[in-house]
Amino acid sequence: PDLGQIYNLSDFEFVARHTMEKTAWAYYSSGCDDEITLRDNHLAYHRIFFKPRVLVDVTNIDLSTTMLGTPCSAPFYVTATALGKLGHPEGETVLTRASAQQDIIQMIPTLASCSFDEIVDAAVDQQTQWLQLYVNSDHEITRKIVQHAERRGIKGLFITVDAPQLGRREKDMRLKNVEDLSHVQGDDEDADRTQGAARAISSFIDTSLSWKDIAWFRSITKMPIILKGVQTVEDSLKALDHKVDGIVLSNHGGRQLEFSKPPIQVLAELMPILKLKNCQDKLEVYVDGGVRRASDILKAICLGAKGVGIGRPFLYAMSTYGVDGVYKAMQILKDEMFMNMRLLGATKISDLNDSFVETQSVPAY
Ligand code: FNR
Repeated sequence: PDLGQIYNLSDFEFVARHTMEKTAWAYYSSGCDDEITLRDNHLAYHRIFFKPRVLVDVTNIDLSTTMLGTPCSAPFYVTATALGKLGHPEGETVLTRASAQQDIIQMIPTLASCSFDEIVDAAVDQQTQWLQLYVNSDHEITRKIVQHAERRGIKGLFITVDAPQLGRREKDMRLKNVEDLSHVQGDDEDADRTQGAARAISSFIDTSLSWKDIAWFRSITKMPIILKGVQTVEDSLKALDHKVDGIVLSNHGGRQLEFSKPPIQVLAELMPILKLKNCQDKLEVYVDGGVRRASDILKAICLGAKGVGIGRPFLYAMSTYGVDGVYKAMQILKDEMFMNMRLLGATKISDLNDSFVETQSVPAY
């Protein structure tokens, strides 16, 4: 179908499933084990209801916001997803170009197919980019990556903390014929390629990473530090104690620990506790996983998230229609947001708060 026939983010997924190369589809779409967490990430949004306000003047709607201090056109960002060239010959730079046109922030993955500098060079003007970091067992390598990123103008360091080992993605493992990954940073000659694309590229990740390392990151960079992959209220409060700038409540899109709770549910538990402690302004809280509609984005913002990350939908849009596809996916979300905010009776992002949502169907903490 041509792009004009795409009406929502699931349409991109449908086209991708039927047109993408098998290996790429398996790597992008898979979750860990039985993919229950993968599905529940999205389903959890269905347990939250809106409480719309009528008779509000909703003539002018403004979606713009700031994330980590930088302005952007809407409260969602392109999260880090590895191996962009499996889906499109120009890889992650496709996401960069669409993000520039839409004024949306892009998080660059450590395991991008394009080199880090290629992705930064593809940026237009002062386009905001963040870096997702897999910490190398050799911290000198990590120090160089981080300091190089800071010199190149990266505005946030997202340290992935949910993946000391990559989860079992069986769909991916069944396709033993893994592509040549030699162009990927951190590729390991001895990696076992029969375990699927994920395992083949991840053997460098530091399994000893712990809370005490946060101080070291602080000492090597002035970039805001955000922990990506926090999965509980307990760890969120620990993150607060360690004075990081933010967290991403995330279970890696259901690719790591099966039965890790849906991030939107953790958000609903966390924010009242942060408020009680009067700490809601000390930590920017982001969520990702299963966001497929503007209503999902709005629910997260109402519950206190500063922004949401979106992974697979942009990968599917990129793989099927390139830059135009990703641009359209972002536009669909913005159009849906406009409509939903009008119907909700809110005109700007700062209007949104928990009085617009009903979370009684979310199990209490
Ligand atoms: C990811 N994700 C991810 N996260 C990360 O920190 N480093 C990485 O290299 C990757 N790679 C990656 C590849 C693919 C194909 C996917 C689908 C995901 C996780 C990602 O940043 C994010 O947490 C999820 O994608 C969010 O879920 P949705 O939006 O895909 O449902």
